[in-house]
Amino acid sequence: MDKRAIGVFDSGLGGITAVRQLKQLMPHENIIYFGDTSRVPYGTRSRETIQKYAAQDIRFLLSQDVKIIIAACGTVSANPPSETIETLEIDFTGVLLPAAQTACSATKNRRIGIIATPATIRSGAYGKAIRSILHNPVIIGKACPLFVPLVENGYIGRDNPVTQLVAKEYLEVMKAERVDTLILGCTHYPLIEELIADIMGPEVALVSPGAEAAKYVQALLTNKGMLNEEDTAGECRYFVSDDIASFAETAGIFLQDDLSGQVEKIQIETY
Ligand code: DGL
Repeated sequence: MDKRAIGVFDSGLGGITAVRQLKQLMPHENIIYFGDTSRVPYGTRSRETIQKYAAQDIRFLLSQDVKIIIAACGTVSANPPSETIETLEIDFTGVLLPAAQTACSATKNRRIGIIATPATIRSGAYGKAIRSILHNPVIIGKACPLFVPLVENGYIGRDNPVTQLVAKEYLEVMKAERVDTLILGCTHYPLIEELIADIMGPEVALVSPGAEAAKYVQALLTNKGMLNEEDTAGECRYFVSDDIASFAETAGIFLQDDLSGQVEKIQIETY
């Protein structure tokens, strides 16, 4: 039994897709979330910058005495700060492998689509992970840089005409290529999962990397006897590096929770 919190980070709102699944699977766990909202997006930046930011995010979570860290960010998972990760004395996971494994189990025609940030697509990391699991897959990758700012600005409604227009154009290639499984390879994208599902149709399986990472963490903590076995509901604390109100509002809609009073601001540059 380990009562310490699970640490989760992302460039902004995306990682709450992992938080939602963690809360569902393990309601007694305490969670510390960090969203680097002053430096979002990560996905259009260089590998070096992403690694530098991610190392600071990890150091902040370490200062909160967490028992495991989840990089709930496809971009960081595909461009990990390896030197920092190697020094960690606690477990660390990204979202890439859990998502790739689920996609490989879900596909029937071996045609898997990946939509993600430019830095993730550029890294080729999802494709590499899929090829290590599945023989001879057809992989179609597409960078969708406009999705992150749309999500961060709250354009997440299923019927939002602006997001629909952008999504239709981005997803055209996935429909043309007849993928039967689509990895929403940036953790921001499941916030518009319903809208994406409307375009792709019910026969295409959508994979949420944050949710898959949460399942992986549940299995890991269970195997290691590190679950929080207290009867009380876990506490969730959110930290951001910029405006508290807009984060609380959009995250609150997605988590169906009132986050006012639960979000604090920190200076991430000092970590
Ligand atoms: N949510 C992140 C990801 O999974 C980062 C998006 C961004 O900041 O560009 O890639």
